[in-house]
Amino acid sequence: SDPGLVDRARAAKAALGDQVFVLGHHYQRDEVIEFADVTGDSFKLAKDAAARPDAPYIVFCGVHFMAESADILTAENQTVILPDLAAGCSMADMAAIRQVEDCWDDLVEAGVADVTVPVTYMNSSAAIKAFTGRHGGTICTSSNAKTALTWALDQVGAGGKVLFLPDQHLGRNTFVRDLGGSLDGCVVFDPHKPMGGLTKQELQDATMILWRGHCSVHGRFSLAAVEQARREIPDVKVIVHPECQHEVVEAADEVGSTEKIIQTIAAAPDGTKWVVGTELNLVRRLGTLFPRQQISFLEKNVCYCSTMNRIDLPHLVWTLESLVAGRVVNAIKVDDEVAHFARLALDQMLALPG
Ligand code: 13P
Ligand code: SF4
Repeated sequence: SDPGLVDRARAAKAALGDQVFVLGHHYQRDEVIEFADVTGDSFKLAKDAAARPDAPYIVFCGVHFMAESADILTAENQTVILPDLAAGCSMADMAAIRQVEDCWDDLVEAGVADVTVPVTYMNSSAAIKAFTGRHGGTICTSSNAKTALTWALDQVGAGGKVLFLPDQHLGRNTFVRDLGGSLDGCVVFDPHKPMGGLTKQELQDATMILWRGHCSVHGRFSLAAVEQARREIPDVKVIVHPECQHEVVEAADEVGSTEKIIQTIAAAPDGTKWVVGTELNLVRRLGTLFPRQQISFLEKNVCYCSTMNRIDLPHLVWTLESLVAGRVVNAIKVDDEVAHFARLALDQMLALPG
């Protein structure tokens, strides 16, 4: 990266001192991670965001839904800043609040809303999190989806259902792989079709009603790539993120959040051969962090998460230098009422055991 910009970022951060707290998701570029006070997966960053109540400015190097959650979970007098407002998430965009409310009406019509609890992936807008809070549900991330789903199914009891938003793959993978549920117990609700493209009977028979959303990056990893890696690299270990398709997750040796991927590889003996199915910035960094292991990327034609990558050093420098000059740019402020109900669902997640 540009040495002039590195110096400017250092100088601005030093000038701000304790006034600013910089969080960095594991998918961020190296040039940005260098300036993060803490790094983590979505769950760790949601907790860490509240760790410095004395810092008036929290610069969130990640995507929009993470910055919204940080705003909801931090004190009133703290301002959360997203260095580029265009850093969204294509998965979060696959569930609009109107569509989710229409879906709930369909569940009412099918007579199943009373026995359904929403479990919503962190990768969703604050409005969808508020919907979840209003209906007694919980947020989850990829690191606590198993606990969240167990809690939700326990709430509804026998014959109860979970409406899992918006990542069908995380919902299916958690239900089948982690909880031993059956694929037959899952249906996919397509928001673009009347009644989700399902019959009342199908909704009544299902345990998992999976929203038809997916990650445009992880959705591209294929079973064929796992099989090819196993053919080409003897004794290879395949580790993937649970946003991958079910058949990919089933064929992998290890599955986990970004934090778990890092910890699993950190704990492995020297010489372990890994093929990793997650975002490319993280896979490249793993290669640098663990040079005694052999780390490669699962699929050549999968690229960076383009929205995570929008946060780059020029945007970070602009954000920090603006604060030095007394100007707050790109503040993320969730509407008070939305924040209130979204917080119920986020607090429920934070109260889950483990
Ligand atoms: P985690 O860091 O929680 O594993 O999530 C990955 C992700 O896709 C965030 O968008
Ligand atoms: Fe969203 Fe996928 Fe990018 Fe994560 S990797 S921010 S789920 S598009």
